[in-house]
Amino acid sequence: MSIYDDMLSDEEYLKKYGLKRNPFDKISAESMTTEEITKMHVVTAADKKIASNLSTIINGGSATVALIGEYGSGKSIRASSIKETLIRKDAFVFYTKLPGGSPGIVTYALFESVCIPIMNEKNAPDDLKELAKKLWEKYREVNSMPESKFKPYEAGQDLASLFKKISENDYLSGLVIDEFEEIIEASIQREIRKTFEILREYFSHAVGISGHITIICSTPNAWASLKEIHPAVATRVHVEIEFKPVSDKIAIEIVRKRLGVFRPSKPDSLDPFDEDIISQVNKEYATGNPRMLLLVLRSILDVTAQNKLNHANLDSVKEGVEFAREKLKDAQSERIKQILTPKMRDILEVIIGEKDGGPIVGTALADELGMDQGNLSRYLNQMAALNFLNKHRDGRIVSFEIKPELRLIFAEELGLTET
Ligand SMILES: Nc1ncnc2c1ncn2[C@@H]1O[C@H](COP(=O)(O)OP(=O)(O)O)[C@@H](O)[C@H]1O
Ligand SMILES: [Mg+2]
Repeated sequence: MSIYDDMLSDEEYLKKYGLKRNPFDKISAESMTTEEITKMHVVTAADKKIASNLSTIINGGSATVALIGEYGSGKSIRASSIKETLIRKDAFVFYTKLPGGSPGIVTYALFESVCIPIMNEKNAPDDLKELAKKLWEKYREVNSMPESKFKPYEAGQDLASLFKKISENDYLSGLVIDEFEEIIEASIQREIRKTFEILREYFSHAVGISGHITIICSTPNAWASLKEIHPAVATRVHVEIEFKPVSDKIAIEIVRKRLGVFRPSKPDSLDPFDEDIISQVNKEYATGNPRMLLLVLRSILDVTAQNKLNHANLDSVKEGVEFAREKLKDAQSERIKQILTPKMRDILEVIIGEKDGGPIVGTALADELGMDQGNLSRYLNQMAALNFLNKHRDGRIVSFEIKPELRLIFAEELGLTET
């Protein structure tokens, strides 16, 4: 017996199920290779729609597509696969996550993610390289440009001109904007219109470019606020593909495939789970969210192994769910801590502490908070876009409510003790 034996044995705990490691450890799209994504993917209705839009542009058309779904619904794995598909067709594809912030910051990020790769691509046509260089010269300084000189519509047109040039050289192209909600979450409302103006102009010009596709990934709340703040942007996105909660059948297939990749000897086995347990977890705890499903199963698998059970049972589910919730709560509190401004804290304190979480009519709290109605309503809308609040509209009356799953986290963060 050596001092390390005890520590090593932990890695062996999944051997019982023929697994070398926990198949649910790698969950974010970023941590997975294209091969892994492909091997673990279960095709859904959304994939068929994506494929049909890819066909359109491969056959010389153009497309602008929004992938809309909650965190963890599977947008980024699609974005990554779209990119891969196009790269295999020798396309110029650019993937970007736009930071929130001033329109200048967004513009810089957009041109950086398109111009630099073109300039570095040795096989890029000369005229395209030249244009990329010229535009990068122009926009790398965007943050020190005086406000009067920065023209959002021009930036949008310039961006589209790069794709036009690619198309004139007979190449396919794609621009993937992932985590679009970031723009809304981290930008000041007053400035966001300019950012949207860039996008509006880009979309207007991109629509005629043969062989070009733009993909935007967004949460439903952020997409809804885009439609409200700047409907002219949203109407230029012709295809919206919504990621609905996955059915139990799809959930079971997702788990089967993932286990299969990590346990090639038994490719179809769900061991130590079974269909009933996966269905239960999918319905009750994951509510059809693939990421949540995998997160919870990761903990259930750990618990099942630690308790040396041959099969996961109701107790392992319960214990695993508890464990996963704790971990999730930590991650969410971290995010919330970073985003909450003092004003938002004031507002949430009233909604949670005095109004039982809502729903409250948007403008009714203005007096109590000493804010004017317009200002309050801007904050409430921003918090809806941030996925903190749910927004309901009934005719002309708009009300807001804390997202039930976040209520406890907020209460703790704000120091409001709840029973
Ligand atoms: N149809 C599917 N088949 C297999 N795995 C899926 C599917 N949809 C989602 N997933 C898994 O869910 C997780 C979250 O997906 P991701 O693309 O990161 O979500 P989002 O970008 O919407 O937050 C990933 O681990 C992914 O592999
Ligand atoms: Mg994502």
